[in-house]
Amino acid sequence: MKGLHRLEYRGYDSAGICLVNPELTIYKCKGKVSELEHFVKGQDVSGTVGMAHTRWATHGEPNQINAHPHISQNKSLAIIHNGIIENYASLRSELMNRGYKFVSETDTEVLIHLVEDIQINEDIELEEAVRIALNQVIGAYAIVILSKDNPNKIIAARKGSPLVIGIGKGEFFVASDATPIIEYTNNVVFMDDEEIATIERDKPLKIKTIKNKKKTPYIQKLELSLSAIEKGGFDHFMLKEIYEQPRSVKDSMRGRLNADMGIVHLGGIREYEQKLLNAKRIIITACGTSWHAALVGEYLIEELARIPVEVEYSSEFRYRNPVLYEDDVVIAISQSGETADTLAAIELAKSKAATVLGICNVVGSSIARATHAGVYTHAGPEIGVASTKSFTSQVMILTLMALQIAQEKGTIARSRFHQILTELNTIPKKIERILLLNDQIQEIARIYKDVTNSLYLGRGYNFPVALEGALKMKEISYVHAEGYPAAEMKHGPIALIDDQMPVVVIATKKGSYEKVISNIQEVKARKGKIIAIITEGDVTVKKLADHSIEIPETEEMLVPLLATIPLQLLSYHIAVMRNCNVDQPRNLAKSVTVE
Ligand code: M6R
Repeated sequence: MKGLHRLEYRGYDSAGICLVNPELTIYKCKGKVSELEHFVKGQDVSGTVGMAHTRWATHGEPNQINAHPHISQNKSLAIIHNGIIENYASLRSELMNRGYKFVSETDTEVLIHLVEDIQINEDIELEEAVRIALNQVIGAYAIVILSKDNPNKIIAARKGSPLVIGIGKGEFFVASDATPIIEYTNNVVFMDDEEIATIERDKPLKIKTIKNKKKTPYIQKLELSLSAIEKGGFDHFMLKEIYEQPRSVKDSMRGRLNADMGIVHLGGIREYEQKLLNAKRIIITACGTSWHAALVGEYLIEELARIPVEVEYSSEFRYRNPVLYEDDVVIAISQSGETADTLAAIELAKSKAATVLGICNVVGSSIARATHAGVYTHAGPEIGVASTKSFTSQVMILTLMALQIAQEKGTIARSRFHQILTELNTIPKKIERILLLNDQIQEIARIYKDVTNSLYLGRGYNFPVALEGALKMKEISYVHAEGYPAAEMKHGPIALIDDQMPVVVIATKKGSYEKVISNIQEVKARKGKIIAIITEGDVTVKKLADHSIEIPETEEMLVPLLATIPLQLLSYHIAVMRNCNVDQPRNLAKSVTVE
């Protein structure tokens, strides 16, 4: 149960548990892990081999029947699964023709009937039946299978969806990520795609591929502390993670930036530095918040390093046969390192011989391993479904990358380089100052908590900030929010503005400051309410705005590292006031391991 709670941020539609004691005993129900806990109270939940699952529904609505584990027809096998079996419909009708009855609408149930069918017909070991079954499967999976006839054995396999095995003293743990494991051991094996693990009581871990090739398990020591994945006195993980940002951006810079000596160096991409310097084009691919960080990266790299940059949604890039050359460098950004679309975009880029670099937060994640090289953000575990500290850390890494390339290419003057480096060092303290505005932001939230629509506007570096602010608002508070380049407003969204519409404008000094003031006037002329993010001491916008939040002055290109913070707090407080589940918003999951 504790393990399930730790994994709950990945999906929370339904939950279930299966114990071998000695039959396969299954309890499952709709809703969160706490519902399951309630459901099993007073039941016999003893056993030393078991598995549990918390689901993010793909096939079939989130109800008790579709909840995992699923059981084979002869009730001797049970399975939990993360991923999607794409050819489930054809497998299902084949199995139905052979007399199998399906009780759920899930793709997962197909797998367990298939394994049973193979095992019965071929009289082979469980792991061999699983191997043969997986050779017939198209799609993504991380699975665990238990058998009542092999009560001391667990079979686990992965393709496309992550799976980690923890090796303790006389005990094993299998999970989608390391968070439920580190409490017990930090010795872990990250499984690779198409690998099957056989875990047996009192025996060493065995791994082979679905092509039947033996592999030697590679045991790694994880550096992850328990406190990093707990709330630490905060009401929500999201709030804790917002408050961690002075530390997390510092950790992203640590050992990579020395302002006094004028050095920026990202060790992870050392081997590919020449590729970056010679790149005719950089393509950054990502999803969601990471895509917003990519947009900031585009502005940074083009301005500082003078290399053309394209930013692509991974889900579009992977399917549209993009033009890619060997001298293109593709940068994939992902907090979790598990986003299915981004992984597929990486594979596509690699197949076209492009160099692929990663910017990931989760150490050992699939994307970190699939890319040629990369940089970890070191933001620390992010549990709240809404990305907060990972955005600022991603932007920090992109800033360092742009500066490093610019310095090597000579596209930046030495004095300017020093100036930006010195300013970067001040960012953690400036974030601390912004966090002191929490009470003021809470008051603004109170005024607007009942709105149904909102608009976020920004120009230049503040345009991605507007997009990110709007995403935070809609995903956790369910208030419709649109992010727009401020000047584009007059091409359509201005029609939405009336005296009920809050318009959040990032109107910091420098850049297109004067132009943004004109945009504010346009909103005011239509009676829209202005919440402005302004530079400390700015009286001009303050006079125009209904509310203004003052953030410390910084370089224009570094403003996203600061201006995003009040927007995170604003959406957080509105969500709390609307009684929304801040850390686990409806319909969402932290790692989107399905396409
Ligand atoms: O783990 P990733 O950075 O690849 O995730 C990408 C998106 O799913 C993620 O940023 C999502 O949009 C967040 N919930 C936004 O807060």
